[in-house]
Amino acid sequence: MRRLISTLLALCLALSIGGTAAVAEKAASGRENSLRIAVGSDLHLDPDNTDKSLGSEVVYSLELVDALLLDAKAQGAEMILLTGDLVNGGKPHRHEALADKLRRAEAEGLPVYVLPGNHDLSPITQTQFAEYYAEFGYDEAYSRDQSSLSYCIVRDGLMLLMMDTAGYSAGAIDLPEAPARSDNEPFFTEATLRWAEALMQEAQREGWTLIAAGHYNLLPEISKQPGSGYCIENGDRFTELLKTYGAPLYLSGHMHVRGVYQEDSLTELLTEFLLGYPTAYSMLDLGQNTLQYAPRRIDVDAWAARTGQSDPVLLHFADWQQEGLYHYAVNNVAYMSERNPLTEEEKGDAVGFFYTVMNAFWSGTLYEQRKAVEAMPGYEPFFRCAEGYAYGWWLKDLIEKATPLLKGFSLEW
Ligand SMILES: [Fe+2]
Repeated sequence: MRRLISTLLALCLALSIGGTAAVAEKAASGRENSLRIAVGSDLHLDPDNTDKSLGSEVVYSLELVDALLLDAKAQGAEMILLTGDLVNGGKPHRHEALADKLRRAEAEGLPVYVLPGNHDLSPITQTQFAEYYAEFGYDEAYSRDQSSLSYCIVRDGLMLLMMDTAGYSAGAIDLPEAPARSDNEPFFTEATLRWAEALMQEAQREGWTLIAAGHYNLLPEISKQPGSGYCIENGDRFTELLKTYGAPLYLSGHMHVRGVYQEDSLTELLTEFLLGYPTAYSMLDLGQNTLQYAPRRIDVDAWAARTGQSDPVLLHFADWQQEGLYHYAVNNVAYMSERNPLTEEEKGDAVGFFYTVMNAFWSGTLYEQRKAVEAMPGYEPFFRCAEGYAYGWWLKDLIEKATPLLKGFSLEW
């Protein structure tokens, strides 16, 4: 239940949309054709948690990473970015297992660039992380920051600033010029900001499109509140730099829920947790001065058939996951109604309401269905039952702030 609540909290926080449509200064790009970029996040690969009897997506982390990589390649992605929380705790064998999979993907023609999240270091250190992922960013970097695991990739008229937002154990910080820290909070140092700004200036001079990525978020309300645990120290200054130098997009993860935020010329896209409904990632099509985003649900059934899997869950994954979502609604209404009782009929209506809202949210149509869900017979009993639980304010917020941007958007600059 604690995990559910924290996921819900994250979801609620991830859905505030503010600001205006992004329009950045027009700059010539060296890119003639569009570039298709897949973005996956929060893979939490864990080879030690594969007990299939638990009936949750998290025990399929090994298979779902394979399915992600194959799906992205099949969809024509020309590179994939993985924005942190690659593994479920930074043990060496977990990183080795992931690096093997990424090596295979690259051999099949899908370049991979990774970033650390808060779960990826300790016991491994920063130096070891850069060694594990040398082939997936660190040895290919156009430039590397000396005080963090941030690096920069330049290709096809695109400058990609891959930012290490830290937030991991201070004991893992061992780069020679990294600051000594006593906390595990996310941060950018002055030196990192200077390094990033020099690169942004270069992108501006060269007419390269500038896109940045990091694990922690910049624009959600809670990410601007120091001490919340979600706020990157100096994150506001990095946001201003992105706006100043006309970056249209910042990519992040961490919250485990899809989100889109806009502020002035900058859009932030949060890519969802891989190991939960609807098992999706982000697909970007970058043109000369345009960018299109659409979420992509992995076709796990097709992957399972193609790779000869025998587990019936994997072979019928979409149905299994849909059933799981329904049980999630049933279990949570049952849990809340222990304290705030409902009649059997009201319970059924409340479950139907909850399930409908979740489906609408994840299919990106909650915005269109707002009036219809508010008119459902389960609306009133659900909120009566959810009184005093996170679900109450979370679902209200979800419905009020639903936006069509979650289904896809286009940017132009
Ligand atoms: Fe995270």
